[in-house]
Amino acid sequence: MEVVRDVALLRAAVAAARDRGERVGFVPTMGALHDGHLSLIDRARAQCGCVVLSIFVNPLQFAPTDDLAKYPRTERDDLAVAGPCGVTIAFVPGVEVMYPGTRIVSVVPERMADRWEGALRPGHFAGVLTVVAKLLNLVQPDVAVFGQKDLQQASLIRAMVRDLDIPVVVDIAPIIREVDGLAMSSRNRYLDTDARRAARALSRSLMTIANSFASGNREVRAMIAEGEACLRTEASVQADYLSVVDPDRLEPVTSAATGDYVIVAARIGATRLLDNHRLGDSLTVPS
Ligand code: PAJ
Repeated sequence: MEVVRDVALLRAAVAAARDRGERVGFVPTMGALHDGHLSLIDRARAQCGCVVLSIFVNPLQFAPTDDLAKYPRTERDDLAVAGPCGVTIAFVPGVEVMYPGTRIVSVVPERMADRWEGALRPGHFAGVLTVVAKLLNLVQPDVAVFGQKDLQQASLIRAMVRDLDIPVVVDIAPIIREVDGLAMSSRNRYLDTDARRAARALSRSLMTIANSFASGNREVRAMIAEGEACLRTEASVQADYLSVVDPDRLEPVTSAATGDYVIVAARIGATRLLDNHRLGDSLTVPS
């Protein structure tokens, strides 16, 4: 695995792979790698001879009140797992490489992004889309792999690629969970033992709603009430939203259908957790 920290070396390494006739797959991350990230690398590896992993904690997508300073930075461990997992090129730029001067142009999404995470984190998705557009232009991959875990992010990246005609295939990978159902996240390491136990309420609320759907219920209001009751069993869990949305625009629906998503976000202490589930897919979480 080659570790590159600047643009010229990145472009040279990708060009060498192209010269070898390899397809290029790309997995953008902010590091603190877990099995969810590694599953994206596997997916890229299955499709491409060359896999580029980026590790960059993007300041643009954090609000001043967010956790940028305390975001976990574990570069040495990340690089130690990336090579054996099949990464060919690790791109690990500093902030000065990604944002060398005053930026005049950003990628700002339309109103669809003002819901859910966009409402609670103003400017967040402009930060995400701007860095992802830059990374896609730097790497110029055939395929870029993102996780369903961040459903709204994945939808907006798909929309950006379509609307701006970026020549890349966007591949969305399923959510990898801990054995107790908690969706893997770099932020899970902030949870102490009690919070970690309480965090299981998120995936349990999704499963409650998925089971309700599987047993024939379609009325979202009643399904959400069941899910909220499940979240309320943990006093430390403060729900930001729990909703059923359509898969295209992520707008709330009143009658649920196969392919809709249940989305949840909640705070436990200072840690914010996200999860979601596609109705019609199976989800088994130990109770
Ligand atoms: P990060 O949170 O590091 O996530 C990198 C990628 O891993 C994202 O596509 C995310 O959806 C995926 N991922 C996270 N947890 C997962 C899980 N449990 N199962 C499967 N995939 C999972 O998302 C970002 O970084 C940034 O916003 C980024 C896109 C890199 C732009 O800065």
